[in-house]
Amino acid sequence: MESSVAPAPEASVFSPNPPAVHLMNTYRRPEQVFVRGRGCYLYDSNGRRYLDFITGIGVNALGYAHPRLVRVMRREAGRAVHVSNLYHHPFQEPLAAKLAAWSGLDRVFFTNSGSESIEGALKLARARARKIDERKIRILALENSFHGRTFGALSITSTPEYRQPFEPLVPGAEFVRSEDVADLEAKFGDDVCAIVLEPIQGEGGIRPLSDAFWNKARELATRHGAMLVADEIQSGLGRTGRPFAFQRFAGKPDIVTVAKPLAGGVPLGAFIASEEAASALVPGMHGSTFGGGPLACAAALEFLTTVEEENLLENVRRRGEEIRQGLETLAARAGFVREVRGEGLMLAMELDVEGAAYVDRARERGLLINCTHKHVLRFLPPFILGERQVNEFLGKMKRVLAQKPKRPAKAVTGAGATGEARSQ
Ligand SMILES: Cc1ncc(COP(=O)(O)O)c(C=O)c1O
Repeated sequence: MESSVAPAPEASVFSPNPPAVHLMNTYRRPEQVFVRGRGCYLYDSNGRRYLDFITGIGVNALGYAHPRLVRVMRREAGRAVHVSNLYHHPFQEPLAAKLAAWSGLDRVFFTNSGSESIEGALKLARARARKIDERKIRILALENSFHGRTFGALSITSTPEYRQPFEPLVPGAEFVRSEDVADLEAKFGDDVCAIVLEPIQGEGGIRPLSDAFWNKARELATRHGAMLVADEIQSGLGRTGRPFAFQRFAGKPDIVTVAKPLAGGVPLGAFIASEEAASALVPGMHGSTFGGGPLACAAALEFLTTVEEENLLENVRRRGEEIRQGLETLAARAGFVREVRGEGLMLAMELDVEGAAYVDRARERGLLINCTHKHVLRFLPPFILGERQVNEFLGKMKRVLAQKPKRPAKAVTGAGATGEARSQ
């Protein structure tokens, strides 16, 4: 075990391996109990330190206990944590203005999660389309997509294991084969109200969309009067070294969804829309009790301002390149790595073998990563990463990958290659 020992005053509260008899059986969790974090590290109840390269699935972009976030959250906890959307508070409008500036769009609705942002975007697209034609209800999404677990979001998530136990889902959703422009053209029509795309599929294995496919989707959406929705819940808000991953394409979406890192770990999401799209909503049509409360919005403003003032997008690009190059070298040596891919600090290593054992080995060495699509090791480290942590990560990964796989290479990837390693 490489991790160093740090004081964990809360440790006595937790048993080392708490039985989960009252929790629903939805996650397979390792035995560690995490009690606190600082910077790029999490600490378990034994005081063991872990370098966090998954950050609560892309949430803790400023790491743990960032002083600027701690200051703002403490301040707002002593004022008003919640006032509801019946009233104004000081932080929603400035935060909405910043999100509009980052995205190049106009209006924002605040939610509490990624799935809820997707629900809102789908409702907005349907409401707008209804003003044009009652039959304009179809929604296109991609095979291998992941948009969330609520009914609407699940309806445009392609993985059968996630969908089937809960069917029937929301009608009107259809899947286009990823990168298949002919399939996209065949399925588009005037009855489509929205196409939802992840610029880089996250849960789907860190798979970037091509310029050609995005451009065609933009062109068809414009031609058929449909909304192009960019799901940037995982890829957005700086993760790729740009404010949004879609900004590497020429065409802009009409609606963007965000969540994960927005409020530094406090649940907050949003959907951001063009003026034209947003005009479909009027008072009473959509709402949320908790969405966009003062503490969450103040934390989000501080998160975005910190990214700007501390030049963190530059850090994401630089550290991302160092990690990528290091992983390429390790991949060449390992002999069972199919590909290293991704952008900024949204990176992955696709193996020829199952990845779950490598996730366990990494954790044993004090490194937190995760595996998606059974074969893809996923890395979503914090934006505050230094060169020292990059070297620490590569050193640990070198030892993790030094252990050769037991089973021979097996070519199983893509949609449907699911199992316990899928974790969101
Ligand atoms: C691209 C994408 N969309 C939507 C979601 C759903 O977000 P949440 O889990 O906050 O509901 C996720 C979560 O991982 C995601 O990665």
